[in-house]
Amino acid sequence: MTKQIQFFDTTLRDGEQTIGVNFSIDEKIKIAKQLEKWGVDVIEAGFPIASEGDFEAVSAVAKAIKHTRVTGLARAKKDDIDACVKATQEAVHKQIHVFIATSPIHRESKLHMTREQVIESIKSCVTYAHQFFNIVEFSPEDATRTEPDFLVQAIQTAIDAGATVINIPDTVGYTNPVEFATLFKNLRTNISCFNEITFSVHCHDDLGMAVANSLASIENGATRIEGTINGIGERAGNAALEEVAAAMYVRKDYYNAESNINLSETKKTSDMISDFAKMPVPHNKAVVGANAFAHESGIHQDGMLKNPQTYEILTPEVVGAHKTTLPLGKLSGSHAVMVKLQKMGFQVDRDAMKFIFPKFKSIADRTDIVSENDLQQIMKEVRA
Ligand code: KIV
Ligand code: ZN
Repeated sequence: MTKQIQFFDTTLRDGEQTIGVNFSIDEKIKIAKQLEKWGVDVIEAGFPIASEGDFEAVSAVAKAIKHTRVTGLARAKKDDIDACVKATQEAVHKQIHVFIATSPIHRESKLHMTREQVIESIKSCVTYAHQFFNIVEFSPEDATRTEPDFLVQAIQTAIDAGATVINIPDTVGYTNPVEFATLFKNLRTNISCFNEITFSVHCHDDLGMAVANSLASIENGATRIEGTINGIGERAGNAALEEVAAAMYVRKDYYNAESNINLSETKKTSDMISDFAKMPVPHNKAVVGANAFAHESGIHQDGMLKNPQTYEILTPEVVGAHKTTLPLGKLSGSHAVMVKLQKMGFQVDRDAMKFIFPKFKSIADRTDIVSENDLQQIMKEVRA
């Protein structure tokens, strides 16, 4: 059976934890509206207790968004939960996201709490939050470095107290897809009513595995993926949701999963985040980078001209990006140059290319990209 995967976007919360990124309230509303258009199921609009600005932003997003569920983040503390209740009170659809760290290093060095104290805190805070929210999402922070037996105990406590969404954060980007499968197997075996709970993952990219880990979790029981647009976020960032969505689309044969994401809005969404975050998208970034649909080498260009599927598994049209380009450089072949000249209106054939191509090569050796002006110049010389 095809699985339905929910997308939970935390660009406005974890994404804003990127060094140097500070969205204005107006920008947050614009981003939230664009995320709604893109089709995400949940928008994490901020951390209301963190600052007055964050509180106002969550309230403003909650008011502006009509179809998508809005959440705020809260530590397992009554004041945090109260702030979330207030900030989301005008949301049409809402939930809360409560977290506490469960790993030994966080319990001992950061929280100075015993296992028993952490369990007590989960029980009381999830119970408290459940009075105000039908949907309580609970995250055991640093789950992937938590002892497997204690992780089960923490999660079962949250479920028994009323949580219906359990998010597994790979807080420091430590795990890998195989370990994620093992972690889920442990939960499936030991959590009662595993199938009635929405399992979610929240992967960081410290070792470059956030998207791979998110996709692995889909194979192992997660039905909600948390991440950000362009992968922005704390340190090396979060799972890039546009990459997860594109992988689910291209490899539907493998993941057998669907979502509400409207892929044709992907590039526009990415551009907006890049612009407001003042973070240019690297040219070679998957799915939304400037070079994602550009082919330079002669062998690749020749393949693309014969059948685009030779080198393109995803077309730019699907994600709303500009057309595929075949920039002409020193590695380009005669076929691509001939097709470009024909598109420019020149009647050239393979014989003519025997004279034209060496001239092209001599310019290409001296420059990065051979422009239309350069090609016009070559044709003038050839025809003189
Ligand atoms: O990375 C993390 O653990 C988080 C939690 C608050 C979910 O961002
Ligand atoms: Zn995070």
